[in-house]
Amino acid sequence: MVTTRSMEGISLELSEEQKMIRDAARNFAQKEIVPIAAEYDESGEFPLDTIKKMGAMGFMGIEVPEEYGGAGMDTIAYVLAMEEIAKADVSHSTIMSVNNSLYCHGIMTFGTEEQKKKWIVPVASGEKIGAYSLTEPMSGSDAGTMKSRAVLNDAGTHYVINGRKSWVTSGPVADYIVLFTMTEPEKKHKGITAFLIDTSLPGFVRGKKEPKLGIRASATSEIVFESYECPVENVLGQPGEGFKISMVALDAGRIGIASQALGVAEAAYEASVQYARERHAFGQPIGSFQMIQQKIADMKTRIEASRLLIYNAALAKMRSKYTGERYSTEASMAKLFASETAMFVTHAAVQIHGGMGYSKELPIERYFRDAKITEIYEGTSEIQRMVIARNELGLR
Ligand code: CAA
Repeated sequence: MVTTRSMEGISLELSEEQKMIRDAARNFAQKEIVPIAAEYDESGEFPLDTIKKMGAMGFMGIEVPEEYGGAGMDTIAYVLAMEEIAKADVSHSTIMSVNNSLYCHGIMTFGTEEQKKKWIVPVASGEKIGAYSLTEPMSGSDAGTMKSRAVLNDAGTHYVINGRKSWVTSGPVADYIVLFTMTEPEKKHKGITAFLIDTSLPGFVRGKKEPKLGIRASATSEIVFESYECPVENVLGQPGEGFKISMVALDAGRIGIASQALGVAEAAYEASVQYARERHAFGQPIGSFQMIQQKIADMKTRIEASRLLIYNAALAKMRSKYTGERYSTEASMAKLFASETAMFVTHAAVQIHGGMGYSKELPIERYFRDAKITEIYEGTSEIQRMVIARNELGLR
């Protein structure tokens, strides 16, 4: 007989708190996001009302301690909530991910006490929207080669920032941005500095909004700095430390993107199982055909493998709080595998649904369009492979 005692340690048991946030995210996502997702995808409008509600529920700063306006939970809680929100709509989860990881995690790790109070509290609580800006028109994967510049004024009080940044998630609406720009170009990546930007100040201009294949309700744009004066107290970390800060934030971000990939894959998978049971062809449910069964088996297996890689990365991030060890490999493996799974699963889901998979009457085609971005942003699959291989070969 298997007793409760003998089962101890042989399951990945979630805590009550982790189950609570997962269930709260699931209920909210299914009730409030699922009914509006198609409409917002069509219009491309930013879903401010639901994002504000998510903020009030603690989803915009899950790992941020309560004293800084967050929910004070751990990384497992974060990935569970991300998965549930993404399962309803990838756009909502994109906005949530950037707020939580790329914005809040970077400031929580490198910010001073004053900076945490000023820049995190309103964003973790969802009152304000945070963004992260590293990419430029001519520097994407090769992030260390940026052209934008920040120059310290003679009085040493302000940096004057000029340049153009691109592909900024929430760029059209962000109140605050963690910006990476070059302060000492001759030092290459060691000359990049991170700045905390208040977008209401003069010299900050929102550029063109990107028309996109998927995650259409998550607004993305260029941003332009025209002699923007940034006070020296808004430097995040040390001058020249920006590249490292950007990479540390991306390690956290990639776990979030992996979780959103898992969420959309699950949504597509569950719809496919239901359809394979209900749809008949040649006098039988299509699920009785081996060609559909093979798809279902491969979809399910890759989803569960993604989940384990995500938990592995989340636990590595939680351990790194105490050990200080990097978890770049774990984060990149989770993102690589989960995002390629999301593409594999959503592609198979369209095929299983046939014509209905291609129709806007069902969300399947949206899942397929939305999934693609997870293989591109916060480091392409090629970059994730580069990170994993370099770390394994000792080339970092
Ligand atoms: N943590 C801490 N430090 C790190 C690090 C990490 N994860 N990764 C690199 N570093 C440090 C290295 O140790 C090294 O430090 P030293 O100079 O002191 O030795 C320094 O950074 C340079 O490292 P590399 O030589 O490895 O740098 P590289 O130029 O070869 O680039 C890269 C490495 C992994 C390819 C990196 O450029 C990269 O991740 N590129 C992809 C960028 C990306 O993901 N962009 C997406 C932006 S966000 C977005 O998509 C939009 C949005 O709004 C969501």
